[in-house]
Amino acid sequence: MDGIDHEPSWTTVGSKSIIEIDTKGVFGYGVSSKVYSGRFDERPVAVKRINPSLSKFECEVETLRRLDHRNIVRYLYTDSDNEFVYIVLERCDCSLQDCLDKKMNTCGLLDDELDVLKQISAGLLYLHSKSILHRNIHPSNVLLTRKDGIVVVRLSDFGVVKNVEEDFSISASVMGEAGNYFSPEVLRKQKISKKSDVFSLGLVYFSVLSDGKSPYGDDGEDIIKNVRAGISPNFAAVSSKYNGYAVPLLISMLNDKKRFRPLVTDVLAHYLFWDPDMVFTFFQDVSDYLTDNMNSPRVEMELISREIIGSQHWQTKLLTNLFNAEIRLFQKEFNAYRLKDDVIGLLRQIRNWGHHYHSKSRRLKNIIGETKNQMLTYMTSLFPLLLPKTYDVFQVVKTNPSFSDYY
Ligand SMILES: Nc1ncnc2c1ncn2[C@@H]1O[C@H](COP(=O)(O)OP(=O)(O)OP(=O)(O)O)[C@@H](O)[C@H]1O
Ligand SMILES: [Mg+2]
Repeated sequence: MDGIDHEPSWTTVGSKSIIEIDTKGVFGYGVSSKVYSGRFDERPVAVKRINPSLSKFECEVETLRRLDHRNIVRYLYTDSDNEFVYIVLERCDCSLQDCLDKKMNTCGLLDDELDVLKQISAGLLYLHSKSILHRNIHPSNVLLTRKDGIVVVRLSDFGVVKNVEEDFSISASVMGEAGNYFSPEVLRKQKISKKSDVFSLGLVYFSVLSDGKSPYGDDGEDIIKNVRAGISPNFAAVSSKYNGYAVPLLISMLNDKKRFRPLVTDVLAHYLFWDPDMVFTFFQDVSDYLTDNMNSPRVEMELISREIIGSQHWQTKLLTNLFNAEIRLFQKEFNAYRLKDDVIGLLRQIRNWGHHYHSKSRRLKNIIGETKNQMLTYMTSLFPLLLPKTYDVFQVVKTNPSFSDYY
């Protein structure tokens, strides 16, 4: 962001003369507005100066006034003069776009990518819960700031929001860079919905996970052309991250047909965001269910076993990762061959290892990880399809009380 290395030039603006802006400190600008570094009520703020003839600013202010959520930018005050309207907002450190561009003052803000994505989604979920469509989700409209050392994400720019009921498409005048994040229905001027925001959110996910890329091409024109034409996205840039867990989620978020996309609440429930404890309880519940129920989805699990563990015994894969000496110990001490050789046996083993993990022997810990979480990380990276495939198969019992927390 600009406006850091200079002598500020403060000017009072608005009818009541209580807002100050630094005319040399510009944070950003768009078609109808310019955002300045400012001071209000003795605190540093951002002041969005809007040209009222070019913008439906009333809608933006009215929306901001209604909103109160940790992941939405804080609104403080509005004033105007003959020329402009001024919206006073809590000042953030930078935008997500600044982070992706690796600008100077963005250091460390994007270290925990998944947490940032989770927070953006939580902000959008809040908007949708109030029947508001953002319609302009892209990295310049996501702000980041540090509060007491913790990175907090704030969704901003409510210049083109709409109530869900109004449900019509966006005008080309707000396109610009944002166009790279538009859904097919926006580009085709078709009816939009919450799912259109989900598409844009998916592109923000991809961008964060790939250092600023798009799965639809390298330059703006290509991206827009490919999204409009419904060309399949290319996920190669993110496929090796987080065991590939983001890919199935992105496939659904970026579905050309909006009815097949998830809602934001489903996005937040996805295993990409699960912590190791949740992964463990899921595997444990799956394994217990498989022990007690001999029919579906056990049959399906048996059918996809090879896909997950390959054609050999799962232990063979585990053992090929170990040194010879460890293999002998492994076989002797853990008597591993008593378990089934397919994915059902593998899940049972993970479940059994996870129980009272702290009391497991040093030898085992040397092999599969010091803590239960490390064991899970080791096993899920050795078998990256274990969680995604098991999760898909267990969809059929998602209404069962043991599984409702996971779907
Ligand atoms: N509260 C804030 N704190 C710090 N920087 C901000 C803040 N609000 C906006 N900015 C910066 O200014 C840029 C433009 O702000 P914003 O997105 O609200 O306006 P815009 O895109 O010009 O709006 P519009 O699309 O309504 O014309 C942002 O991308 C961000 O870099
Ligand atoms: Mg903007």
